[in-house]
Amino acid sequence: MGQKVLLLPVWRMALFLRASSKKWGLSPTAGLVRLAHRAISNAGKRDTYSYVIVGAGSAGCVLSHRLSEDTHSTVLVLEAGPRDVFMGSKRLMWKIHMPAALIANLCDNKYNWYYHTTPQKGLDQRVLYWPRGRVWGGSSSLNAMVYVRGHAEDYNRWSEEGATGWDYERCLPYFRRAQTHELGADRYRGGEGPLYVSRGKSDHPLHHAFLEAAQQAGYPFTEDMNGFQQEGFGWMDMTIYKGLRWSTASAYLRPALARPNLTAESRTFVTKILFDKTRAIGVEYVQNGQRKKVYASNEVILSGGAINSPQLLMLSGIGNADDLQKHGIPVVCNLPGVGQNLQDHLEVYIQQDCTQPITLYSTQKPIRKMSIGLEWLWNFSGWGSTAHLETGGFIRSRPGIPHPDIQFHFLPSQVIDHGRVPSQQEAYQVHVGTLRSMSVGWLKLKSANPMDHPIIEPNYMSTEEDIQEFRLSVRLAREIFAQKALEPFRGRELQPGSHMQSDQDIDAFVRAKADSAYHPSCTCKMGQPSDPTTVVDPQARVIGVENLRVVDASIMPSVVSGNLNAPTIMIAEKASDMIRGLPALCDKNVPIYRPRTLETQR
Ligand SMILES: Cc1cc2nc3c(=O)[nH]c(=O)nc-3n(C[C@H](O)[C@H](O)[C@H](O)COP(=O)(O)OP(=O)(O)OC[C@H]3O[C@@H](n4cnc5c(N)ncnc54)[C@H](O)[C@@H]3O)c2cc1C
Ligand SMILES: *[C@@H]1O[C@H](CO)[C@@H](O)[C@H](O)[C@H]1NC(C)=O
Ligand SMILES: *[C@@H]1O[C@H](CO)[C@@H](O)[C@H](O)[C@H]1NC(C)=O
Repeated sequence: MGQKVLLLPVWRMALFLRASSKKWGLSPTAGLVRLAHRAISNAGKRDTYSYVIVGAGSAGCVLSHRLSEDTHSTVLVLEAGPRDVFMGSKRLMWKIHMPAALIANLCDNKYNWYYHTTPQKGLDQRVLYWPRGRVWGGSSSLNAMVYVRGHAEDYNRWSEEGATGWDYERCLPYFRRAQTHELGADRYRGGEGPLYVSRGKSDHPLHHAFLEAAQQAGYPFTEDMNGFQQEGFGWMDMTIYKGLRWSTASAYLRPALARPNLTAESRTFVTKILFDKTRAIGVEYVQNGQRKKVYASNEVILSGGAINSPQLLMLSGIGNADDLQKHGIPVVCNLPGVGQNLQDHLEVYIQQDCTQPITLYSTQKPIRKMSIGLEWLWNFSGWGSTAHLETGGFIRSRPGIPHPDIQFHFLPSQVIDHGRVPSQQEAYQVHVGTLRSMSVGWLKLKSANPMDHPIIEPNYMSTEEDIQEFRLSVRLAREIFAQKALEPFRGRELQPGSHMQSDQDIDAFVRAKADSAYHPSCTCKMGQPSDPTTVVDPQARVIGVENLRVVDASIMPSVVSGNLNAPTIMIAEKASDMIRGLPALCDKNVPIYRPRTLETQR
């Protein structure tokens, strides 16, 4: 105990000096100047801004940065959670910035909304746990740092679904504008954006063996699953920069904080949008236990994520009028699509014993943990500097499917109950799940109290097609694990277990073990105003009211075939041009890989 007390200030000092001087090109005095500046600007705080943004998450931080680039605009961003500063007044927030610590934040509700679904009929009545970031950076401060854009056809489908102008050729330039890829710019990758993206450095033998095994099973190797060819297996991109998690708070918000026209708040919970008839004029929020109001001369923009944005709309009188009236909420606009169209990705983990002592199991030993922690603190290198999901892939489950509908992430370790239960042995796993499930759910208010979580009904595994696709997913994952390349490491199958072979066995395993891949989305669907299920138009403006937009993962018309952080950042980049009245970027005729034939699956 005494040792701990003594060590902590030393760690903090070391970390602070390194973080502020070397990595971010700042000196400790610049930090002090900034603090003083903040104190002054807070003293003269105004109550009207050009833009009020709700939520400093993946999308909200991007908007804060881009909208405050305008010389004539003032921007306020309100975040319910705390700041994610490296060295807070009370604690060192290494759990956020150290990539390997990601699981630590899933165990409690410190930086996490900690949602739960209703019991799922398709999953043995299980209640699923949904972590969501509640901190600067939002879920990008809690996520697994996998950078995946999805398939070009996802965006072409969005456009067909009514999100005019969101086809691939009009989205790709914004993916590029956001990004600086470690491997340099090309037709697909960006070279000058705030979002640093890198490849794994662990060089772990199991990652090599997994990629080899996938090729032995007949799948192509792809150089860049975010570029020309999504299909196949390869090294994943990660939002990690020089050994640090690169959340949107690090990439976009912090670098803009010195601007006099950006104000970012923390521990500020927005409870309601204020209207003058149907025109949004500001928001009501709670800070330090006090209820306050702030006004927006141009627009209020909701970036609270796929759960909070529809919830806040409903609390403010925008949603299904019958439902709102039941809770005594005065209706501003009857918009029945709010909270509907909820989509997510499910996945299961196929796990095997590893016969060699090379997995992450050893990192649970206190001495090893300490040395990894110290190396990371001192140098931001070593096993602390990666999220370990360094390889993965995309395949088509069966002939006739035009682009991949199954995704894999490989991990040289075993995850039990979201990492809340420590692994008991040397083991590795592959996460496998389907990408375009037919099961669609909804969320509704539980009450008119903003503190109450909404009722979340994802309706997982509610179609026969889902059940069949998961059967295929499990079988195809096992087939890869059975290849020669994994022979030197392969022990018995821990999960599902080699006795689980029949369709019924696999279905039972999926019902008992499938979990969310943490990709809820689509609850404020973007589309044509003539479509009664649409919530925002293709400019992200809420239908039926003025001066109100939603910009986050909730406006996806349908979920993309991959992880959601990069697409959400792209959405915010593109929306920021719309809000600022800048012309939309476009890059025509970018080549995209097509399988030679759809008659086979590989
Ligand atoms: C554990 C986990 C792992 C994941 N892994 C990956 C991955 O590896 N790769 C990937 O691409 N995606 C991953 N995702 C998904 C991805 O991170 C999210 O889809 C994405 O960050 C969503 O961005 P958003 O802007 O819509 O919402 P968020 O980033 O969740 O931001 C919403 C913000 O608004 C704040 N807020 C909400 N309501 C209010 C209010 N009323 N007042 C004030 N503030 C409010 C929230 O606190 C939050 O900070 C993961 C998600 C989780 C939770
Ligand atoms: C807003 O910030 C930008 C970038 O720092 C700056 O050029 C501009 O003058 C600022 N505008 C106001 C009104 O403060
Ligand atoms: C520090 O990190 C760099 C690059 O991240 C690495 O090359 C070097 O070996 C590390 N040094 C130590 C002492 O770990």
